[in-house]
Amino acid sequence: MCGIVGQISNEKFVITDTVNALKRLEYRGYDSVGVATMEGDIYKDIGHISPFMAMLPLVATNAAICHTRWATHGKVTKENAHPHASFDGSIFLVHNGIIENHKELKKKLSISGIEFVSKTDTEVIAHYIAYEIQSGLSIVDAIRSFMGVAQGTFAVLLLHKEEQRIYAFKRDSPLVLGILDDGFIVASDIYAFSDKSPKAVFFDDDEYAIISPDSYEFFSAKGPIQKQVTEVTWTGTVEKDASFEHYMIKEIHEQPAAARRLLASLEGEQSKNMNELATIARSIDRILFVAAGTSYHASLIGVYILNSIGVEAHTLIASEFHNYMLADEHALVIAISQSGETMDVVKAVKHARSKGAKVASIVNVPHSTIQRLSDFSIEILAGQEICVASTKTYTNQVIALLRLAQLMGFETDLSTIPDDISKVIESSEAYVMELARTMKDTHDIYIIGRGISYPVSREVALKLKEISYIHAEGMMGGELKHGTIALIEEGVIVFAFIQGPDYDMLSNIEEVEVRGANVIMIADNPNFSPDFLLSLGTMSAFPIAATIIGQLFSYYIAKEKGLPIDKPRNLAKSVTVK
Ligand code: F6R
Repeated sequence: MCGIVGQISNEKFVITDTVNALKRLEYRGYDSVGVATMEGDIYKDIGHISPFMAMLPLVATNAAICHTRWATHGKVTKENAHPHASFDGSIFLVHNGIIENHKELKKKLSISGIEFVSKTDTEVIAHYIAYEIQSGLSIVDAIRSFMGVAQGTFAVLLLHKEEQRIYAFKRDSPLVLGILDDGFIVASDIYAFSDKSPKAVFFDDDEYAIISPDSYEFFSAKGPIQKQVTEVTWTGTVEKDASFEHYMIKEIHEQPAAARRLLASLEGEQSKNMNELATIARSIDRILFVAAGTSYHASLIGVYILNSIGVEAHTLIASEFHNYMLADEHALVIAISQSGETMDVVKAVKHARSKGAKVASIVNVPHSTIQRLSDFSIEILAGQEICVASTKTYTNQVIALLRLAQLMGFETDLSTIPDDISKVIESSEAYVMELARTMKDTHDIYIIGRGISYPVSREVALKLKEISYIHAEGMMGGELKHGTIALIEEGVIVFAFIQGPDYDMLSNIEEVEVRGANVIMIADNPNFSPDFLLSLGTMSAFPIAATIIGQLFSYYIAKEKGLPIDKPRNLAKSVTVK
């Protein structure tokens, strides 16, 4: 979370250019925004990037850094917005990550008389480095000294006043250098420069770089290092389509095309990788998925299908993986992550590797940290997802898992999935819109499912929470009677997702209906007379199609409520803190 961008060039550029590149990373956080030039001009404010840009003066410079914030330490205020300056005004920097021992470092610097103006953990970096320079160290040695004492995670871009250079260093938080025709962009991820250049150099942990307008040098703790330049290829487009008011609905509608693209690739250029992954999966004792949020819900579907064909598979939310999952050399860990940068997943993957497990990943963002940490990686090719909430990437994660299961013996035909998705969107959107109008004042929604519908219930609940700001609980139909049913009273809405002839789910529906609940049933069995009948070419499409109904509900309820759909409060798309 937090996006950082630095730009450097021999030709002067206006700082709105740099902030424009930052805008492409706004999904990483949007609490506040700021920019600093090598001359020492700093502009910052709370809020989103567009209004900030509108009031930015047209200042030209040869080096600038900027930041969009997802607040962790210190409230959302102008003082806490980045860039932060050192006490002597010589150092300006932006930071993504958390300096865990910032209090300790602050105490030491405060004893030396340095005053802090913000409540952030970041400010300590600027003061520490400036203090070390005043004590006689070169700027590079001061940075190295900071990297030696710092605990936590950081990607930092630093300007030393009047010097035409950007200093960049990182541990655990992502950082990448983009090579332009004239100069460089250094940023949290490749999307900052994907409209300008495919050439990228990825930082590894504990590396730093000195970037000048004509050249760059990379260093590890041992000295200068040679880095590989990667040519990145992009999938899909991110242009706003005037026929859609929000990215979320555009991305929901992109799902048939995204699914088609992935299926073609899994049969084509990614087939070798996929076959190798299936071979490894067959040769080990168990598969352990690790993921967070929506990606975790996709992994639950993977577990369900693999277990159905006798393959031992488990999944766990990444932040607790090291506590509750036994990863060893007999396990294949499959990390699922849209961004490929989620810190909890990165940590779990590093833990699994240290225990001897093989690691594979299913990611959307190519060259992301998780992909680079994996022995094998499958790209889901959904194209960039701009809305903070995942939609099309969930669908493609499920398809990748279905294909893996298919190669391991799960009998299914995946080719009909794109058409199934199209039909579901066409046949349900208008009715969802109509029902959503009646739900705008709803406070609680309970969502139940069994078997393959259980992950769907969890995913739809997450969408309703994050997009429609409705308290929603997604749970196993069988679990409701063990407590939560106490909350069912007259008028409460319950969504029931039913795959196949699941009469137990019908009983669960009866149990809530007799207590006054209004049930909306989404099922593929016409005999159940559901509110939404999913007529699908394959049962494998069910968890995707059913979830899409939920995506549409969360979108249209949020629209009725006038909520900020693409950038919901308190959230960020790339969660790079623990
Ligand atoms: C919800 C959502 C999040 C992410 C989660 C993991 O719509 O997008 O729950 O799924 O933060 O992110 P990735 O998949 O990037 O690891």
